[in-house]
Amino acid sequence: MAKIMLPKFSSRAFLAPMAGVSDPALRLLCKEMGAGLVVTELTSIHAIIAKEKQLQAQNQDISEFIEYSNKERPLAVQLFGSDIESLQKAVKIVEPYFDVIDYNMGCPAPHITKQMAGGALLQNLSLTQKILETLVKSTDKPVTLKMRAGVDDNLVFKDIAHVAERAGVQMITLHARTVQQGYAGESDWSLIKALKQTVDIPIVGNGDITTPELAKKMIDETGCDYIMIGRGAMGNPFLFEQVNEYLATGTYKKYSQKDKTEMFCKYLDYAAQYKIKFANIRQQAMRFTKGLREGAKFRSGIMLAKTTDELKSIMLQIS
Ligand SMILES: Cc1cc2nc3c(=O)[nH]c(=O)nc-3n(C[C@H](O)[C@H](O)[C@H](O)COP(=O)(O)O)c2cc1C
Repeated sequence: MAKIMLPKFSSRAFLAPMAGVSDPALRLLCKEMGAGLVVTELTSIHAIIAKEKQLQAQNQDISEFIEYSNKERPLAVQLFGSDIESLQKAVKIVEPYFDVIDYNMGCPAPHITKQMAGGALLQNLSLTQKILETLVKSTDKPVTLKMRAGVDDNLVFKDIAHVAERAGVQMITLHARTVQQGYAGESDWSLIKALKQTVDIPIVGNGDITTPELAKKMIDETGCDYIMIGRGAMGNPFLFEQVNEYLATGTYKKYSQKDKTEMFCKYLDYAAQYKIKFANIRQQAMRFTKGLREGAKFRSGIMLAKTTDELKSIMLQIS
């Protein structure tokens, strides 16, 4: 079969993959509010292979493990792990279900970098080349890469980008920090501009966009094709609509406290359809109440809540 090209995106603003945050319910809300692409939380290639075996024995498929709905499309699945044979197997398992296969080369978490995966790969150009070539050869779906600028001050992102482009990767997202930086300091958007000038494939700029104004600023300053929003969209799916409106008209609609609490109630309705841990749902409630008038007053109740009904009734008291 011929290689499939990237889907057409309805917006330049994408939702970032966020482990424990960008669950299928939040992704769907962001999609409904105008995100051009949503990405699953990062998933281990080894876990995919192990789960697939279990699920097959029960006549189920991998969508029981990596949950999603078709309303999220176009939808990217994000993989991590660097064992070549396992990569081949894992990508074959997920490819029928997802529109884009994204590969993680940015995660700074030690349990991932210790396996020579995530951000650690930035220091291993030859293995990176092998991984990306393997991924592209193993699937007809478009393969994309999400990376940081380097492990440390040795900023290798341009070398990685050349290798990726040559391997057939169709789009690169740059979180413009190093792995060592974690989330400290500011992301350096000049690196996104440099990356855009380095390769011909589309570039997604990422890091510290929390308002429509900052979204426009990143596009204007770097020339990136798309932007990706992570923490700014936590508890705030409205941001996608606001960015789209601001890019088109220079103004945007503001949302009230009531809009926010209603949006969270919608989140709860969607979340009920998936196996999302209650602890994660409660954390989402904390994020949706951040910045609300008297939000702090309700947060101790949220922390003590044991059911989604309790969370809903707390939300409905916020006016
Ligand atoms: C809680 C959390 C979980 C994250 N999980 C992932 C992940 O699974 N895969 C990934 O590529 N990046 C992950 N990231 C990084 C984000 O995708 C993004 O690159 C980073 O937060 C910078 O963007 P922002 O400033 O808009 O948040 C995570 C970030 C946070 C805060």
